[in-house]
Amino acid sequence: MNQREHFATKIGFILAAAGSAIGLGAIWKFPYTAGQNGGGAFLLIFLLFTIILALPLLLGEFSIGRTAQQDAVRSFKKIAPNSGWYWIGILGMVTCFILLSFYSVIGGWIITYLVKVADGSLLHLGAAEYAEAFGKTISNPYISVGSQFVFLFITIIVVAKGIQKGIEKTSSIMMPALAILFIILIIRAVTLDNAIAGMKFLFVPDFSKITSKTILNAMGQSFFTLSLGVSVMITYSSYLPKNVNLPKSASSIVGMNILVVIFAGLAIFPAVFSFGMQPDAGPVLLFNVLPTIFSQLPFGMIFFAAFLLVFLFAALTSAFSMLEIIVAVISKGDSHKRRKWSWIIGMAIFIVGIPSALSYGVLADITIFGKSIFDLADFTVSNVLMPFGALLIALFVSWKMKKTALYEEIKQGSNMRKGVFHTWFFLIRYVAPILIVAVMLDVLGVWK
Ligand code: PHE
Repeated sequence: MNQREHFATKIGFILAAAGSAIGLGAIWKFPYTAGQNGGGAFLLIFLLFTIILALPLLLGEFSIGRTAQQDAVRSFKKIAPNSGWYWIGILGMVTCFILLSFYSVIGGWIITYLVKVADGSLLHLGAAEYAEAFGKTISNPYISVGSQFVFLFITIIVVAKGIQKGIEKTSSIMMPALAILFIILIIRAVTLDNAIAGMKFLFVPDFSKITSKTILNAMGQSFFTLSLGVSVMITYSSYLPKNVNLPKSASSIVGMNILVVIFAGLAIFPAVFSFGMQPDAGPVLLFNVLPTIFSQLPFGMIFFAAFLLVFLFAALTSAFSMLEIIVAVISKGDSHKRRKWSWIIGMAIFIVGIPSALSYGVLADITIFGKSIFDLADFTVSNVLMPFGALLIALFVSWKMKKTALYEEIKQGSNMRKGVFHTWFFLIRYVAPILIVAVMLDVLGVWK
């Protein structure tokens, strides 16, 4: 049996968990989903869900992981032997499999843009031409599938070698770099003509825009950005020594995520309104808007390249966590098996993801339940599988695990007061399950 490694430092764990959390969810998905769901009202509901639902759940996943010190499936088996709860871990693995199959498509888009900036082919375009050029590029099947492959290839190599440790160090440079580049971008965006219309769109909630779909999307968004409901955070926290402060770690990860979400909104929406673009353009929104803002900056293409690199890194650290939890379960800590299974699973994900990559090109006309293949995969993961996984985890933590044992676990490394603990327990035992079920039923039209 291999001795389980621990994270070398507390900050190492925070960086890895934050690396999983901060990715396409905050930077790419948030702006386009907010754009399609009424802006300010969506942001507000998203924030509410993040605080009362996602934060407690994150602490719940951390408590499971550190109690059991096992992977996504064995953690449940260890805490609840001879029961079916471990299916939560299997559900998480399946969800991450589908998730990575379309996540890698967007990762590929970032790579595509990087190549275009590097070869200078973006320099001569006028502001309005970027969107058209991008649409043409991603509809090319060789480019979209090829770049998806490159993104997955990098992910597989890192997970196969188990070199996440090295990634931690890079993270400590990349995360601050992300913040700095965002600030530059935001300064440019908010000083554009008519930027105020974008700020209003983002910060002034229009409650007439709230529908059951908005609410479901906001809930899905809050789970997606924090990697919740899929046992990723259980797996990461299973490597934690007992002296780490779980509530504090959870809060700082949530705080960083909210910050990145707001940064992304502040960078994108003023520009959308200033350039007369459509906020509801869908998954291409970010990619249409970014080059337009950067082209308005001195040395814009250099900043754009730097931004894309950091963005790619953020997307990759999330992708690692998706593949990692699947491989960790199957390879049981055996490094030989790890290498083999990283490739097998990674390639299977690639094949399953090809239709998503093509759904902006040759398969664009194929719709299922009125959605493109890409949108259907995204919807199923974000709005069905993740909330369902989160519901089961909330039930497991609060009904299956012992309350006193949970308190003891959380208290190690933190000095959480009893009152705060009881509030958390109440939120995860009653509020989270009821809210998740209510939102899901609402979408099915049960309350009408
Ligand atoms: N949180 C990641 C992001 O925002 C996505 C993710 C979800 C990663 C679930 C792992 C597991 O990009």
